[in-house]
Amino acid sequence: MKEEMAVSDLGNRVQEVKDSFERDVAPVTTTEALQGLKVQYLGKKGMLTTLLKSLGNLSPQERPLAGEALNTLRSELEQKIEEKKQLLIQAEDAAAEAMERIDVTLPPRGRPAGAFHPVAQTMHEIVSIMQGLGYSVVLGPEIEEDHYNFECLNMPSWHPARDMQDTFYFPDSEDQETAKRRLLRTHTSPVEIRAMLRYGAPLRIICPGKVYRRDNDPTHSPMFNQLEGLLVDEGVSFSVLKGSLIELMNGFFGRALKSRFRASYFPFTEPSMELDIECVECGGKNPDCRICKGTGWLEVCGMGMTHPFVIRAGGIDPEKYNAFAFGMGLDRMAMLKYGISDLRYLFNGNVSYFLSGRDVL
Ligand code: DAH
Repeated sequence: MKEEMAVSDLGNRVQEVKDSFERDVAPVTTTEALQGLKVQYLGKKGMLTTLLKSLGNLSPQERPLAGEALNTLRSELEQKIEEKKQLLIQAEDAAAEAMERIDVTLPPRGRPAGAFHPVAQTMHEIVSIMQGLGYSVVLGPEIEEDHYNFECLNMPSWHPARDMQDTFYFPDSEDQETAKRRLLRTHTSPVEIRAMLRYGAPLRIICPGKVYRRDNDPTHSPMFNQLEGLLVDEGVSFSVLKGSLIELMNGFFGRALKSRFRASYFPFTEPSMELDIECVECGGKNPDCRICKGTGWLEVCGMGMTHPFVIRAGGIDPEKYNAFAFGMGLDRMAMLKYGISDLRYLFNGNVSYFLSGRDVL
């Protein structure tokens, strides 16, 4: 036998559902949560459906009245849900709009901080010191003729000094006569010749730039950077050369360093010298120093009094003028100043070494 249910009971249940809905809908803040609430009340297994099912417990006379009451409840709930939905949609639209709005009073975000490459920075610092000593910057081509790269610098085709600077020749120039062959310059010295021919004497120049050789190991790269210096005038003395280079080294490393000039050989200078500075890492105190290998000295620069042959190749009379020149490796200077242990870090394009100061694995 079915359990009889009074219409008054149903009336109470309707009221309960209404109250419970009011309580539940008030804290809802998103359309998603509202949809969940709709399912909870009006869905297949929702509260209203449960009440509808209980209609079967009523007497046939009571059923229409009760059915009408439940239909009214359904429309009321549906209407309330729709009203709430409209409110939520408005609020959500307003929030999205507020996020998109551009606040013109905010300060700009700026760009990520960048920095010059250590070699570029080294070049700028050295150029700036040398400009203070009255030198001007001159640039030359990286694709050079054998004539300027070797011949004019007193290195004819048979000269053994060429072997130290074996380079990359351009295949299309192979069958030309030696002097006209084109190659990637092996040093910045050919710019000396080009500058003398262009500007004549007196002259005081520096020439930074990329140079190329067929070398590739931890301390040699097929491309590296040099800086050349040349001073042409009447009565130029070796002491001016020494003074200028000591000034440059002390200025670059930011303190007075011990220096020594050693006799050396270059085909384009006579006499030729090499400059060593006191080890910037250990100051000559560490016999196991990995920078100076325990010698206490670092070789930084080749130089000499320019050979009369070279001055003449530059179109200047060596009887009237004389000159000095020097050439240094900018990469090596950068490594020494910034404590970079492997030349290849400078060229592999991975900036994390410089950002963290640690080795890149
Ligand atoms: N050109 C030389 C080299 O690449 C460096 C050099 C040495 C340049 C002595 C000079 C100099 O001007 O006088 O090895």
